[in-house]
Amino acid sequence: MTKVLFVCLGNICRSPAAEGVFAKKITDLNLQNLIAWDSAGTSAHHSGYPADERMQEHAKRRGYPLPSISRLFVTEDFKRFDYILTMDESNFADVTSLDSKAQFTNKVIPFTEFCRVHNITKVPDPYYGGDAGFELVMDIVEDGCDGLIEFLKKEKKIK
Ligand code: 4NP
Repeated sequence: MTKVLFVCLGNICRSPAAEGVFAKKITDLNLQNLIAWDSAGTSAHHSGYPADERMQEHAKRRGYPLPSISRLFVTEDFKRFDYILTMDESNFADVTSLDSKAQFTNKVIPFTEFCRVHNITKVPDPYYGGDAGFELVMDIVEDGCDGLIEFLKKEKKIK
């Protein structure tokens, strides 16, 4: 089983959206017995809460339910997951700063490295903006999840 963790700040907007898109695409491909997923936040501020209603609405319009409940990223996640995909540079810095002995550096990767359509280095935080920001998050996470799935299929030699 390959395990993927999506990480943002609050775990109520970007990483739940990436997780929901990834879950739908993986189950549509019937790969859920080979690949597992979760999401987490580097802040506990929203722990225990479902995804932001605006994020849920924009995802639902494209056919993705977002069932995640916010939780804090914990150091055990370095061992539990094979790929830890951060949404922006501050999430990347926060996660890698918890890897005090730099044992897991190769597992922590900016999510946007898997994008094939968008030439960007971060998923912009939509929290304080309007609809366009949430739509952009959906565009980026669909793109990145497609690239990530292609990468994982090659890595696991899945046709
Ligand atoms: P997320 O978005 O990191 O994509 O879940 C945010 C959610 C909440 C806040 C910031 C970003 N906040 O400042 O409360």
